[in-house]
Amino acid sequence: MKFKKVTLLVVVMLLVGSLVAGCGARSEQPAADNGGEGDKAAKQEKIVIKFSHVVAENTPKGQAAVMFEEKAEEYTDGKVDVQVFPNSQLYNDNDVLSAIQQNNVQMAAPATSKVSKLFPEWTIFDFPFAFPSTEKVQEAMESPEIGGKLFNMLKDKQLLGLAMWDNGFKQMSLDDQPLYMPKDFEGKSFRVMSSEVLEAQFKALNANPTPMPFSEVYSALEQGVIDGQENTLSNIYSKKFHEVQKYMTLSNHGYLGYAVITNSEFWEGLPEDVRAGLEKALDETTQWVRDNGERINGEALDKIKADGTLEEIHELTPDEKKAWMEATDKVYDDFEDIVGSDLIEAVKALRD
Ligand code: LMR
Repeated sequence: MKFKKVTLLVVVMLLVGSLVAGCGARSEQPAADNGGEGDKAAKQEKIVIKFSHVVAENTPKGQAAVMFEEKAEEYTDGKVDVQVFPNSQLYNDNDVLSAIQQNNVQMAAPATSKVSKLFPEWTIFDFPFAFPSTEKVQEAMESPEIGGKLFNMLKDKQLLGLAMWDNGFKQMSLDDQPLYMPKDFEGKSFRVMSSEVLEAQFKALNANPTPMPFSEVYSALEQGVIDGQENTLSNIYSKKFHEVQKYMTLSNHGYLGYAVITNSEFWEGLPEDVRAGLEKALDETTQWVRDNGERINGEALDKIKADGTLEEIHELTPDEKKAWMEATDKVYDDFEDIVGSDLIEAVKALRD
């Protein structure tokens, strides 16, 4: 009798084991068995979407990822389980795109600057003072000459661009002196995202650019490995960069936004109703980021001011802005061959 019970138990365990193994990486086990219809639904395999990003949760992208998770699960009737991994928990800047290509994660939203590692044309968003407002960036992304062209090229490398999420405009900070005029940059080292245009921007100001993953910036500033950095206010505040810098210039000199990217084969292999639910969730989230990015960055500025750790927050004057623009304008010519004159002209037309 006892033997029979144990044998039965082993058989049941083997059966359950083979079911788990058969589920594969894109499914998950049901919640505890409580019987009834709800349980039947829970027992259906879920499609797991791992969403990896590098920023904190209290930023435009951090909040958008959580919103997408909630909406995606709702609009697919629980057929999808979105798992968000913030703060570089899963992948760092340098490897997230190849992780998507290999379907190790299904979604990410790298800064457009980082997409330029695979597709140099994407560095168009890094040009200094290219966009006077986020509305102009959105106009660019919606135009076939810019957004259409950029999203199309992703397909060559098993990637699919789903949406563009805003963060906002970057500001400069430095540890030991204010940044008013181009000469103030001379000889200082600044962290940049991996983008040749961003490197060129600082070289044009006679500064030394240091490409570095986002997760390493705080300690590099703290230890004096670099003197300064550029980022949006929400990124500066949420990662406490303002606590290890003394001077900030509100310059709005460059745009920071995200390409929401997936693996094209994974996306096209999804059941149609699931894909439709995900697209609806994405559309609504994209609209939310558009409506709220500026607010979140504004609130971050208020908190930075309230912390009182910076000696000075300087707003770039029109004359100073003109001098910064003149000093960095050569970057446009230097990258014409890499980015293409048609893209540069299309962006310049928006600016003018
Ligand atoms: C950075 O590296 O500074 C940004 O890409 C971080 C982010 O994703 O906003």
